[in-house]
Amino acid sequence: MDDQLSEHTRNILGLQLPTDPRWVNLAEIKMEEILTDHAYCEQKAATTCISLIQKNPEKTLLVEELSPIVTEEWGHFRMVLSELKKRNLPLGRQRKDIYVNKLIDFQIKGGSPTERFLDQMLIMALIEARSCERFKRLSEGLEDEYMRKFYRKFMESEAGHYTLFITLAEHYIDKKIVRNRWAQWLAFEKELMDSAEVRGDRIH
Ligand SMILES: [Fe+2]
Ligand SMILES: [Fe+2]
Repeated sequence: MDDQLSEHTRNILGLQLPTDPRWVNLAEIKMEEILTDHAYCEQKAATTCISLIQKNPEKTLLVEELSPIVTEEWGHFRMVLSELKKRNLPLGRQRKDIYVNKLIDFQIKGGSPTERFLDQMLIMALIEARSCERFKRLSEGLEDEYMRKFYRKFMESEAGHYTLFITLAEHYIDKKIVRNRWAQWLAFEKELMDSAEVRGDRIH
């Protein structure tokens, strides 16, 4: 499974820059901050899926496939919330999400409805892919065995999600167009990761 997923991560997921190995050590020190940031990532994943369903009611496959993802992401949110509770911590306030904001800046403005839809699918695929990679780092690199197992569960879920968004894009749009735009997203994300500060208080 590990090897399969590593290969998956390298080849299919296609992220062009692995996370800086120092990140997991920084995250370990700031686990409380990570949990709060993570909780909001899950919450945003759920709300974004709801909004995609609302905006695309005519896309039957999308509605069918994303409905259970809403439940799953909300379940993730609750799992993180209960970890915070165990530590006697409140949810805390939402942090500014620099990574996601920069990705949103890259999303096509104007363009045709199809182009906008494609970017909506691909930004989700990318966030899921990077989250999956980060959870993998945590599941392998944390000292605490319980937390390694905790993050392993998230990694497995998010691995399914990024492929789902690509699959949905390819269901509605020509595969070649999807692949070309995906390559642009991957290149942009590499630059973004390369220039971003390595900080242990954020999932991304
Ligand atoms: Fe999730
Ligand atoms: Fe997800």
